[in-house]
Amino acid sequence: MTLPARINGWVRVVPAWPIYILAVVNLLWEFWLALNGLRQYAVEPINVLERQYGEIALIMLIAGLFITPIRNWTGVNLVKYRRAIGLSAFLFVLAHFLVFAVLDVQSVSRVVTEVIKRPYVTVGFAAFVLLIPLAVTSNNRSIRKLGPVRWRKLHMLTYPIVVLSGLHYIWLVKGWPIEPFAYMAVILALLFVRIKWTGIRDYLAKRDASASS
Ligand code: HEM
Repeated sequence: MTLPARINGWVRVVPAWPIYILAVVNLLWEFWLALNGLRQYAVEPINVLERQYGEIALIMLIAGLFITPIRNWTGVNLVKYRRAIGLSAFLFVLAHFLVFAVLDVQSVSRVVTEVIKRPYVTVGFAAFVLLIPLAVTSNNRSIRKLGPVRWRKLHMLTYPIVVLSGLHYIWLVKGWPIEPFAYMAVILALLFVRIKWTGIRDYLAKRDASASS
């Protein structure tokens, strides 16, 4: 048995729900550490928590984008975990936004001002707003209601969302730290691969169609 076939065998028996548990436990653990000023939260815990949630959200959004190329290149099919990864990413984005709004700026009018005045907040907010329909439709009922084609089209929004998130990070840092640029490089590479793969798939479909007609 090949390695991808063996991994797919494991995937069949390992459920997706532990991802939700891990995400919630991690979110609460970071919150508890911040509440008690422990570890990296000794100084400016609110700001550090805000950044921590933002970074975890970005990593999870990117992780979700890896599932298709992994399947296309290796045959390992992790699609079963995509919904849990995406919804967990949304949970962290929501927590990131709530820490910003409730604990950091602490007023609705200041949230509005920050979103309007600071371009990096505008971009982050746009990514958050675009994520909402994806989170709301990440269930079997929505797939049935929208139909798989429309649902898939809607969920292609993940790509602009992740690009906006990467831009949000680059825009807010001062100087030239490597991290946000490394994330953006990975995001752009994934986008490139996706566009290229779609092009190849469409070409093969057209070729097969004209060969059989
Ligand atoms: C998909 C949505 C979003 C993602 C993936 C995201 C991700 C991030 C990341 C990775 C950071 C930097 C973390 C670090 O320095 O290690 C960050 C910082 C920040 N984000 Fe977001 N973000 C999103 C949405 C938002 C929204 C909706 C707001 C507010 C309206 C927001 C406000 C901020 C602020 C104020 C900071 C900087 C905190 C500081 O250092 O003062 N973000 N975000």
